[in-house]
Formats: sequence, C-alpha cells, structure tokens
Amino acid sequence: MAKPERNVYRCQACGHKSPKWLGRCPECGEWNTLAEEKEAPKRASAAFSVPEPLSKVHSAAGGRVSTRMGELDRVLGGGVVMGSVVLVGGDPGIGKSTILLQAASRMPGPTLYVSAEESAEQIKARADRLRIDEGPIVVLPEISLEHILAETRSLNPSALIVDSIQTVYTDELSGAPGSVGQVRESAAKLMRFAKTTGVPVFIVGHVTKEGMIAGPRVLEHIVDTVLYFEGHRGQTFRILRAVKNRFGSTNEIGVFEMTDAGLAEVENPSELFLAERPVNVSGSVVAASMEGTRPLLVELQALVSASTYSVSRRSSLGIDFQRVGMILAVLEKVAGLHLAATDVFLNVVGGLKLEEPAVDLAVCAAVVSSLREKPVPPEMFTFGEIGLSGEVRAVNHAEARLKEASKIGLKRAVIPRGNRDKLKGKAYGLEILGVKDVHEAMETLFS
Ligand code: TYD
Ligand code: MG
Repeated sequence: MAKPERNVYRCQACGHKSPKWLGRCPECGEWNTLAEEKEAPKRASAAFSVPEPLSKVHSAAGGRVSTRMGELDRVLGGGVVMGSVVLVGGDPGIGKSTILLQAASRMPGPTLYVSAEESAEQIKARADRLRIDEGPIVVLPEISLEHILAETRSLNPSALIVDSIQTVYTDELSGAPGSVGQVRESAAKLMRFAKTTGVPVFIVGHVTKEGMIAGPRVLEHIVDTVLYFEGHRGQTFRILRAVKNRFGSTNEIGVFEMTDAGLAEVENPSELFLAERPVNVSGSVVAASMEGTRPLLVELQALVSASTYSVSRRSSLGIDFQRVGMILAVLEKVAGLHLAATDVFLNVVGGLKLEEPAVDLAVCAAVVSSLREKPVPPEMFTFGEIGLSGEVRAVNHAEARLKEASKIGLKRAVIPRGNRDKLKGKAYGLEILGVKDVHEAMETLFS
C-alpha cells in the first residue's frame, strides 16, 4: 500500500498553511477559516505537460446530451456537455432532488442517482409521486465517494447525479462530510472523474443559511456550470438560473411550476407572471424584458408615499438599486417630480431579477403612476433605456419583445422612437407609440 499523503490545513482567507487544525489563523487572525486539504504529491518530471500548438489539440468529444427537459436544456446551453460537472444549488426543499430525478428518468438509461441523504425507498416514493418512467434510473444510497466512483465506473451511466455534495465524503481527508475541505475535495474528484470518463455529473448543493462556507459557493470555481434553483415559499413557480457556464451563456433562465406531480415546465412564462396583475391600479406596469434570448413580460410595481421619517426610504426588489436611484434622479431633475420627501418601493412581481436597462422606462412609468395615482391602461406595456438627460434610448431585441406582448394579448406599446423607426411600419398587431424622452413617455402613458 502506498503511504497515505500528508494532509495540511489552509486558511481560506489568506492561504496560510498549517500542519494541524487551528481555530484561528496565526497569519491573518481570522477565526474558523482553516480547512483540510490534501498535500499535492510530488510529480516526476515526466508527468509535466509540454507546450503544443493549439491547432494540433484534439477537440474534446464534448458532445451534448439532452436531458429531455426543455427548460433545463435551455439553461445548460442546449443539453448537458459530456464530461462536464454541473452544480445545482438552492435552498433545502426548493426542488433540486425533484428536477434531477425527473431528468434522470428522461435521459437515455442507465442514469445513476446517488442518494447520500435519502434511502432508496424514499427515492422510490418520490418517483411514484412524480409518476415518472423508472426504467432508466439506477439508485445507489451511498456516502463514500470512492465507492460511488467505483460503482459508476462499472455501470458507465449516461449521467451521474450526486445528491448531495454536503453528505458525501472522501477517505483521503479526515474531516466530516459537509466540511469545506470535504466538499471541495469531493467536487474536485468528481470533476477529474467526469473529465477522464466523459460521464456528465450533476451535483446537488444546498445553500446553507449560516453563511455559504461549506455550500455551493466554495465549489463555483471548481465545477463547469453552476445553476441556482430559486423560488419563493408559498409560490409554486421556480426559476433555474445559470450563474456560471463554461459551455453556454449565463443569461438564460428556465421556468418551472411545482405541481402535485413534480416540476412542470412553463413554456409561456409571460402568462404566468402576469396572471394576477391587478387591473386599473396605479403603480403597476408591464415591462417587456429579455432573459437571455427569451422575451419575458413582467409586472413591475411601485409604491410612492409621503415619508414619515426625516430620511426618505428607498427599496427595490428585483432591480438594481443604483439604477433605480439614477432613474429617480432623472425624474426629479428632468421631469420636475418631487420625490425627495417620499418613500419609494419597487418590486418585480414573481421574484424575478431584471438586469437590463431596457426596463428603465417601466420603472419610470410605475413610479409616476403611483405618485400621481393614475393607472397605466392594462393593455399597455413599455420598454426603453433612459439616459441621464432624460432621453429614451433604443434597446436591442425590440421585435422579439413586441411579438411576445402581442402573443399574450397586449395592445399598445410605448417604446423608444429609435426602435419604432427601425420597425419600418411593422406592428405585430400592436399600436406602436414611439417616444424620444421621459416627458413624451409620461404624456403617452398617462394621457
Ligand atoms: P425536493 O426536490 O425534495 O427539494 P430539495 O431536494 O431541493 O431539498 O422537493 C421538496 C419539496 O417539493 C417538498 O416541499 C414537496 C414538494 N414537492 C411537490 O410539491 N410535488 C412533488 O411532486 C414533489 C416530488 C415534491
Ligand atoms: Mg433533496
């Protein structure tokens, strides 16, 4: 037997190395930052890589396999890449096991579902509830990573699912499952396994409340793709979002609804996000936004009220706070609105995060609507970026936004004049109202 390699403890804050565990790093003085690590073995010089012309490098097989769940494929960039490691992170109970079990049943078999948290009977109960095809799925309730990898090698599945990374452990480290050292080393081993065998690996990672220390965050730079599964307690829809993707864009989102029989894909999220929109209520506006390549109509709400404190309150959920501050400043300076002594609350309905400036005009409209207590007509929607001098600037994907709005039955579009001019008369069954600045936009929206 080879002599076991020596383990060291490294400070996660400053990188200080120590031969034994310490509660406090002697170098930087931080507490609880030392995590166990395997000392890299000395390499023989023959094991080093040699430089090679890029043109001579073989492309990795790198094909993609469809998970046969359209929304999951979309977020992955068109299916999962062979030999890649995908981390699926999210709060406990959000639906990570559910989505992966559903994917495992649809992918070409066999798929290996390793449950390090639940018994085989519990997985069976979930599968029954989901009424999925159990044919392709092989379950392995196991927490030893070495054993998991040995079984995976002999089965050679089309995908390996490890649920969860916080409950498996590798023999090479002495720390408990879930410790930073264990979580990281286990993920690194899975990564090496995926790269050498070509088997795609999905890893479940719980986002832990007490800081992110042993959660998905420590893995983000190790794995190829990081997806977060988000949603709100009490609401049934879930959003799958890529925050890192070596093989695709990070703009795409997948939308699901949690039903009695598992996660249903939502192919038309605009309808879902506008379903409960109040009609003829001030402060509510429909914004035509883009999430990656997909247009998405969402409701934006503003509440503007007189401040009861000396310092007025500003809060914004789902839209960048700095951006909102800028828009409010433009409204004050250019449109002459008095917002200094008001509290302003903004919210994107459904817990979505809108990150593009194209929603500026909708923010403006919602704030003005609430301030003046004048509703925006229910069949009207808007998009457009606002500049510092109050000009409304053209945005990209105008036609996709208009088509989506038309599809769900909206009638009137308040859009940047620059975008309207480029349409050359095309209207997609909508009344198109082009505006050049904030003044014109407000007149059009509230006339
Ligand atoms: P789960 O996938 O176990 O969450 P995670 O693995 O992220 O911890 O999902 C748990 C929740 O989903 C649980 O509260 C019950 C609910 N659920 C449904 O509503 N319908 C279903 O068909 C299933 C399987 C779960
Ligand atoms: Mg689970």
